[in-house]
Amino acid sequence: MGKPKVLITGASKGLGLAMAKKLNNDYCLILHASKAENITEFTDGNYILAADLSNPEELKEFCKQVKNEHGDDLYAVINNAGMSLDKPLTFQPEKDIDTMIAVNLKAPIMISKTVAKIFGLKGKGVIINVSSCVAETGNAFQSVYAATKAGLIAFSKSLAKEVGILYHNHQIRILSISPGFIQTPMTDAIPETEKEKYLKMIPAQRFGNADEIAETVAFLISDKASYINGSNIDINGGLF
Ligand SMILES: NC(=O)c1ccc[n+]([C@@H]2O[C@H](COP(=O)([O-])OP(=O)(O)OC[C@H]3O[C@@H](n4cnc5c(N)ncnc54)[C@H](OP(=O)(O)O)[C@@H]3O)[C@@H](O)[C@H]2O)c1
Repeated sequence: MGKPKVLITGASKGLGLAMAKKLNNDYCLILHASKAENITEFTDGNYILAADLSNPEELKEFCKQVKNEHGDDLYAVINNAGMSLDKPLTFQPEKDIDTMIAVNLKAPIMISKTVAKIFGLKGKGVIINVSSCVAETGNAFQSVYAATKAGLIAFSKSLAKEVGILYHNHQIRILSISPGFIQTPMTDAIPETEKEKYLKMIPAQRFGNADEIAETVAFLISDKASYINGSNIDINGGLF
């Protein structure tokens, strides 16, 4: 039997890439990005799937591919792909609002819908939805982003409860994680003065690195975390 498969969305850079690096030895990876050419690392022995998750047709086709091409061996899904378009809400174009909701919330919901059925039939599987600390703290100029991330926490908790009602003797777990300020291409774009403001809110007195998130994810998808279900795990250096 081959290695169990783990799907990581948004695996081209940042947190998703660090997860790919960490999980590469123990699992067969399905690496996703908006375009296939964006995936350049850890491709040996793994699979690449491309889809712009803001595009409903591409999302539908992606879910079909996951089910038809990988459903049999699928063990875990990390809904990590995400994006933020920061603006005061008054100036936020509706299309930006739709895009954030589509990528950050609708895509993880549709992917979870696809794989929950697969995991239900097998009685085993893990879904980790990547939320954010701002889901709990709120953040100015990120009201829509924060709302999508808060939605993911509620979605994960609810789906965990639903699975507990629908299936018996199962080992299916649905979780979310809420990273704090982690150094990735997403946060590299934040101006230095803003970064200094965030730093003052972090008791650990430093930003996190992507490997620290990947370590947590590796633990959470393993059987060592077999009783962690429906939880949202903060990984934020104590950020408040
Ligand atoms: N970094 C942090 O401090 C932090 C904190 C809390 C939560 N998060 C969350 O953690 C996750 C990863 O963040 P990151 O910092 O690693 O971000 P990143 O470096 O910007 O990487 C984002 C990933 O998402 C993919 N993606 C973005 N828009 C997409 C779309 N329309 N369709 C398909 N894929 C898309 C990107 O793929 P392409 O390369 O193909 O565009 C990329 O692989 C996100 O959900 C983010 O909200 C990050």
